[in-house]
Amino acid sequence: MKIKNIELEQVAGFREQWPSEDLPELAFVGRSNVGKSSFINSFLGRKKLAKTSSVPGKTRTINFYRINDKFRLVDLPGYGYAKVSKKEKAKWDKLINEYLHQREALREVFLLVDIRHEPTALDKQMYDWIRETGFTGFVIATKFDKIKKSQIQKHIKQIMKKLEIDDEGLIFAYSSETKHNKDVLEEQVDVIVNY
Ligand code: GTP
Ligand code: MG
Repeated sequence: MKIKNIELEQVAGFREQWPSEDLPELAFVGRSNVGKSSFINSFLGRKKLAKTSSVPGKTRTINFYRINDKFRLVDLPGYGYAKVSKKEKAKWDKLINEYLHQREALREVFLLVDIRHEPTALDKQMYDWIRETGFTGFVIATKFDKIKKSQIQKHIKQIMKKLEIDDEGLIFAYSSETKHNKDVLEEQVDVIVNY
């Protein structure tokens, strides 16, 4: 896939701001701070496109990136961030769930987990929903550059166990620093948007 054209098409704080459903969409979900926005930046080769932060809770809207006028990548707020008010949390959850449940253009949902940590109960719940809804169940294990090579298999196995994944081919270790596995994910995205 050659990326010729990227546009931040819409920053949506509520449903009425979603773009029309004329293109297939791929969404990235996961805990706050797991690296969703960083993934989008590194995948698109644009360092500062999506705003990122070392402090969880950076993305608070649904951001639609229009690629080659052919498909959209969708950056969502994170879940599970303890340090926000109940009201704020409920607002983000509503945004995320409304999008995931009601968006017909949604073709695939990628779950992002931090390769260093065991997925949480919320990750499991999200993953179960992804599978039950009929999406493939791709997992991107982020921050791959932060673990020792000798530890990789142990961490991948831990993720597979917690999320009850049998097929290791569904998990992509990824680093937004080194872009490890970007090529493989590009192929996957190609398959999805051309299907
Ligand atoms: P929210 O918008 O708050 O839900 O977070 P997010 O999932 O979008 O995370 P974000 O991309 O903002 O990244 C959070 C922090 O992790 C930032 O400090 C990033 O620089 C860092 N980070 C993300 N991915 C990687 C990675 O692959 N390797 C390393 N070393 N750091 C990463
Ligand atoms: Mg973000």
